[in-house]
Formats: sequence, structure tokens, C-alpha cells
Amino acid sequence: MPSFPYALNSKLPNVGTTIFTVMSRLANEHGAINLSQGFPDYDCAPELHDLVTKHMKAGQNQYPPMAGIPQLREAIAAKVSALYGAAYDPEHEITVTPGATYALFTAIAALVRPGDEVIVFEPTYDSYVPAVEVQGGTPVYIALKFADFHIDWDEVAQAVTPRTRMIIINTPNNPTASVFTAADMRALERITSGTDIVILSDEVYEHIVFDGAQHESVARFPRLAERSFVVSSFGKTYHVTGWKMGYCLAPRELMSEFRKVHQFNVFTCNTPVQYALAEFMHEQEPYLGLAAFYQRKRDYFRDRLRESRFTLLPSSGTFFQSVRYDDITDEPDAEYAMRLTREHGIAAIPLSAFYRRPPEHKVLRFCFAKREETLFKGTEILRRI
Ligand SMILES: Cc1ncc(COP(=O)(O)O)c(C=O)c1O
Repeated sequence: MPSFPYALNSKLPNVGTTIFTVMSRLANEHGAINLSQGFPDYDCAPELHDLVTKHMKAGQNQYPPMAGIPQLREAIAAKVSALYGAAYDPEHEITVTPGATYALFTAIAALVRPGDEVIVFEPTYDSYVPAVEVQGGTPVYIALKFADFHIDWDEVAQAVTPRTRMIIINTPNNPTASVFTAADMRALERITSGTDIVILSDEVYEHIVFDGAQHESVARFPRLAERSFVVSSFGKTYHVTGWKMGYCLAPRELMSEFRKVHQFNVFTCNTPVQYALAEFMHEQEPYLGLAAFYQRKRDYFRDRLRESRFTLLPSSGTFFQSVRYDDITDEPDAEYAMRLTREHGIAAIPLSAFYRRPPEHKVLRFCFAKREETLFKGTEILRRI
């Protein structure tokens, strides 16, 4: 193929290959235990396979409605109502999406115009800022406070300007594993009260909150829910990240704008998987039992690392555990992560990857959504360092 002969003015000049791809590739090259990228190394419930096959064989293989099949939207509405006491209308306020990242992008594309400011918290999940920038929006960064990664809400209040269009929050949080409290939600309520700011709430780890705490969805807070897109992911909940299925909730006025973008982008998603999920969602145990399932993995991972030279940071939700390594080396985290993979055979994500201008902390993020055997092997290596 001849090369493109003109100068290209990239809309995303700072975007390269994501660190997740880089680390997973390096892990493969070196046969390393891969605790970097956030996906399970075990399969979903066999019933889910059977349900997808059943609906494929039953002929559910053509375009479904644009917003998703009614049965799935109704199942989502019932779950959200039972868990958070919020009544979303399946007809106008719920859209099934091909993954959460897509829903986040669509909400941003539907609302953010050139010159709009969007508040994001650093370290930040990697898709938010490029999605804002490609729309011509300006990200406004606020740092989560080391080492428990809480938010200083006074700082947020000061960052709000008449141009603030959106605030993006993520609880439970990737990469820090911190979770919002009800007090955080009330602070957000106070700051946005009387403004037209829209909240984009990334809640893909909604079912993975530890130590008996409850997930504080914006859906629980009517004065936040009225201005919020809530995004969740079936991939995280049912161990099927490769299926790329999620959903978005929002009041009718916001959802109507969301669907204007959605219908000319992907239009709709995968029919048989929607039928399968709609049926599977009637069982509550798979999502209500998820926190205990991951808490056992978290505790196992933490217990095994307690006698290592790594310092464990808190992990209150998600399937991530961050560690400090300042007792081991002064190397910057990206260099150390690469060296760990190449020389010790274990892959992690350097926390600096989630910052525009990384601070000096020496922190790595490990994913413990892995079989015990994998966690055993990984922690054996880490304990020897
Ligand atoms: C915070 C956060 N949001 C969104 C996503 C993406 O979810 P999906 O795979 O459904 O697009 C992830 C996946 O790692 C995530 O960690």
C-alpha cells in the first residue's frame, strides 16, 4: 500500500498504543504471568453459553431494536429498581450498548461541544480523555489524593466554571480500587445543584464492593440521577469481557440525545447475546455473589503479599490491587513494570499510565481476577523479589 501523501493533523496527537496492549503483548512474548490487563482467566457460567446457543438456534440472529430488546431493558430496569430504588423507564431511559466504553464515548459525543470543559479525576481510566478531546472538549484534571485516592471536593467546586459541561466519575474506581461513600455523593450533589452540569458515572464494577460496604450508584440519589448517565458492563459482571456488552441509563431528555448518536454509530448490538443476558439476569446470585467471589481473591492475593517487600494500598472494590515498591527500587514505574515482565516473568500496569503528568509515586496495579493457581504463581514470584 503506498503511504498517504499529505500532512495529517491528528485529532488525537498524544494517543498511542494503550499500556494494556503493550503489557499484555510483552507478557505473551516473555511467557509471563499476566496480572496486568483487567480480564478474568476463567470462563463465564456454562448456562450463559447454552443460552446464547439456544437463542441463536431459535433464529434470533437479525437486527434487534435500536435501544436493545425489550426483555433485556426490562430486566435491567427491574435490577436497578431492586438495588438502587430508581425507576428507569425501559422504553425511553435504558439503552443496551456494545460495552461500557462505547456507552461512555456515546454520552460524551452526544453532550460535549468544542470548548466545553469536562472534569476528570486522575488517575483516570484511559478512554475518558481521548473521547472528550476528539469532540473538541477540554479535560480539566483533578488528582485523587494519594494514598487512599479520595477526592477533595473543595478542589472540585473551585474547578467548576460556566463552561463545565460534564463531570466524569468512576466508582468503584479503576485503577485505584477506591469507592465513593454517600458523603462523596452528597458533595457532588451540592456542587452540581443549580447548574446544568451532566454527570457521567462509570459504574462497571458496581457489583464488586468489599467489606460489606454498599455501592453508591448515582441512581440512589435522585438529584444526581436527574443529571446523570449511568454506565455498566455485562463483561465485568458475568466474566465475558470479550462479548463487549453493557448498558446506559439516563433521564429521557439525556437518553434521547444519546440515542441520536447511537443509532448512527453502531445502531444496535448482538441479538442472541441480548436474549441470553435477559434470561440470565433473572438469577440474582451471579451478581449479588460477585463481591464475595472477588473479596476471596483479593484477600488471598493480599495475604500472600503481606510478607513481600511490596506495600499494599487499600483495595475497597474492583478486581485490582495496587502496591508501592519504593522499598525495592527507585526506577520509574513504567520501566520497573517492563523489567518485572522481562526478568521476573510477571506483568503489572504502572499507575503512571493513568496520568497526564504522572506524580513521583512508585505504584503498580495488579489484576486479581485470576484463578487461584495463577495468583499463587504470580505471588510466588513477587514474594521472592
Ligand atoms: C472503569 C472502566 N470503565 C469501562 C471499562 C470498559 O468496559 P467494557 O469492556 O464493557 O467496554 C473498563 C474495563 O476495563 C473499566 O475498567
